[in-house]
Amino acid sequence: MSEQEPTSGSELNEVEQTDKEHVFGTWSFQKEVSPTQVVDSDGVRFTTAAGDEYIDFSGQLMCSNLGHSADAVADAIDEQVRETAYIAPNYTTEARSELGRKLAEVTPGDLSKTFFSTSGTEATEAAIKIARAYTGKQKIVSRYRSYHGATYGSISVTGDPRRLKAEPGIPGTIKAPDPYAYGSTLDPMESVEYIDEMLELEGDTVAAVLVEPIVGSNGILVPPDEYLPRLKEIAHDHGALLICDEVMAGFGRTGEWFGCDVFDVEPDIMTMAKGLTGAYQPLGATIVTSEIAEHFEENMFCHGHTYAGHPAAVAAGNAAIDTYREENLIERASEVGEYLGERIEDLAEKHPSVGDTRGVGLFRGIELTKHPEKRVPFGTREDKISPGSTVVDEVSARAKEHGTYVANMINTLIIAPPLTITEDEIDEAIDAIDAALEVSDAAMDSVSTT
Ligand SMILES: Cc1ncc(COP(=O)(O)O)c(C=O)c1O
Repeated sequence: MSEQEPTSGSELNEVEQTDKEHVFGTWSFQKEVSPTQVVDSDGVRFTTAAGDEYIDFSGQLMCSNLGHSADAVADAIDEQVRETAYIAPNYTTEARSELGRKLAEVTPGDLSKTFFSTSGTEATEAAIKIARAYTGKQKIVSRYRSYHGATYGSISVTGDPRRLKAEPGIPGTIKAPDPYAYGSTLDPMESVEYIDEMLELEGDTVAAVLVEPIVGSNGILVPPDEYLPRLKEIAHDHGALLICDEVMAGFGRTGEWFGCDVFDVEPDIMTMAKGLTGAYQPLGATIVTSEIAEHFEENMFCHGHTYAGHPAAVAAGNAAIDTYREENLIERASEVGEYLGERIEDLAEKHPSVGDTRGVGLFRGIELTKHPEKRVPFGTREDKISPGSTVVDEVSARAKEHGTYVANMINTLIIAPPLTITEDEIDEAIDAIDAALEVSDAAMDSVSTT
């Protein structure tokens, strides 16, 4: 695939032009939006109307965990829609009760009762409301380098720069530092002790500490092994809950079912979406411990959506979990992920603009730098909400010219392919990134003396 001819340029076809005119591009200055029509997807690849085929090295938005040919999931959706396309949430279906049971099985410890929604954003909203209702306290502590969703509550607890456009947001949200050894002035374990101090200083007013166990789009930040257990201890010492956002890290990406399993930590509340259906249907889920669930026996669970537990979505969730299990995809992610890690290290040795590599399983990041000693980034948080492209965007664009789609965010290439990817396919994608990193290596030469 790295031998593929450069792709066909930026002229829009009729579909793309119509789309540009009538549909908003997400998180973008609209004049910069250039939609590409996709006409086919199969395995780990997708094909555009212009006939260009790409390896999907980021599983689209880090969600296509099952690849693009999970027929069992497609069939389950089809069967469910033909049987009962929709029924209100006050009824149930076999698929909904079955998925509730399965989630209690695959999530750690005593997590046992789920609220279904249709996105990671809504899963966060439910988690915030549940934590507030259960504790009777209002504040949510989350971290700067995080993404938890787009709506007002979920963007308010989000740390990444997109929050700035939605401020002041909802009251009672507080940001903490991150376990980011490469780019933060605080050591990760110092940062967790700082959260202890924050909670102490806030008095008994914090409902929950909300974190991605392994930070996704804000740079694939993997904390030290002791970090998450200590964070749970800190939260509980101060009468706060621990909420783990598993929207991106969950469902096998790390080589475990969930990111928190990597650290043997059971949160009080967990949110999920993306890999929950392998992106075959929009489905979010918020699962809580039986103790929290019990609270709502006598206190109203004051939350819901028309599409809570939508039959087609929960049918997809069941079939996705069956597929993870039957095809041993979680174990596979761990094994193939080792190989991916080795190949990324090859790139780091070869390319001086690779500043840091991080990750676990099939969830990896390559952070770029203009200046290895000073760790100067090519892309900043400000760039994320400004017009124009960065060198990191150009690296992704060059990889695409070589047949590989790899997402990037701020200063990091985000690698999260379908868990079905083979070592040969990894090699193809690594070759494309190898060629693309020439862009950042060259940009580095021209700035590193400044
Ligand atoms: C960790 C995390 N939480 C929440 C969300 C929001 O999910 P959605 O885009 O499905 O609303 C995302 C989306 O990328 C995410 O990565």
